[in-house]
Amino acid sequence: METIRTIQGLRSKLAGLRRERETTVGFMPTLGYMHEGHLSLIRAAKAQDGIVVLSIFVNPLQFGPNEDFAKYPRDTARDLKMAEEAGVDVAFVPDVEEMYPTPMRTKVSVSEVSERLCGASRPGHFDGVAAVVLKLFNIVQPDHAYFGLKDAQQVAVIEQMVHDLNVPVKIVPCPTLRESDGLAMSSRNVYLSPEERSQAPILNRALAEAEEALQNGEVRPEQLRQLVANRISEASLSDIDYVEVMQYPSLTPLDPQVTPKQLIVAVAVRFGKTRLIDNRILDLERMPSHV
Ligand code: PAF
Repeated sequence: METIRTIQGLRSKLAGLRRERETTVGFMPTLGYMHEGHLSLIRAAKAQDGIVVLSIFVNPLQFGPNEDFAKYPRDTARDLKMAEEAGVDVAFVPDVEEMYPTPMRTKVSVSEVSERLCGASRPGHFDGVAAVVLKLFNIVQPDHAYFGLKDAQQVAVIEQMVHDLNVPVKIVPCPTLRESDGLAMSSRNVYLSPEERSQAPILNRALAEAEEALQNGEVRPEQLRQLVANRISEASLSDIDYVEVMQYPSLTPLDPQVTPKQLIVAVAVRFGKTRLIDNRILDLERMPSHV
């Protein structure tokens, strides 16, 4: 594996690899502090692409002024070791100067789909994500880009951006990986105190109950929302930011007259200072009863 820190260096390395191997490029943008979830994206890319590129970049544009940019966990040496062992060909590890040598004057803003859920709680977050992902796509020019569905709204925003701007890349959404007690894997889980950590799996349990209720015919969004919120509130350290039931991937409210193909039950919950997100995307066409 080669580690490259400059855009120019990456472009010339990839041009060489493309000439040599005549194959597709698979790409995973990450904030680093890798875990098994990231490794599953690398495995998905390796199954499909002859050249696998990973980026590690904690993107300041997507963090609000009171968020955890400065203390976001970082361990690049460990990340690079994991990436190499997983079979990544090229790791792109730029610094902030390399990515943003001058203040960004261009905004990449995906309306509507960015505005609800985490977009409402974290104003500007998805503009920062869209800007860096579009920059990275222009730098790497991948054929496929792999994203975890724990950040389902991020996937929807990026899909919309790629569609609207005809970016020549196929987005490959990958399933959420979970710890053995059901907690969705996240780099931010390290912030949890032992007591918070022991309560956090309630998110997955509440979402599983919503899925079961839907399978048993409960199709009213408000009832599903209440069921999830009530279950999560049983955890004494939980502080709900939102529980929402919406159409996916449009992230628009459910219309009782129309049966969407997919709906999402999405949650964001604080345990102490740590904000966790999780979701279930449910395929309504496969459910015994439709909304
Ligand atoms: O999901 C993430 O890790 C980040 O939002 C991403 C896509 C790497 C952009 O910085």
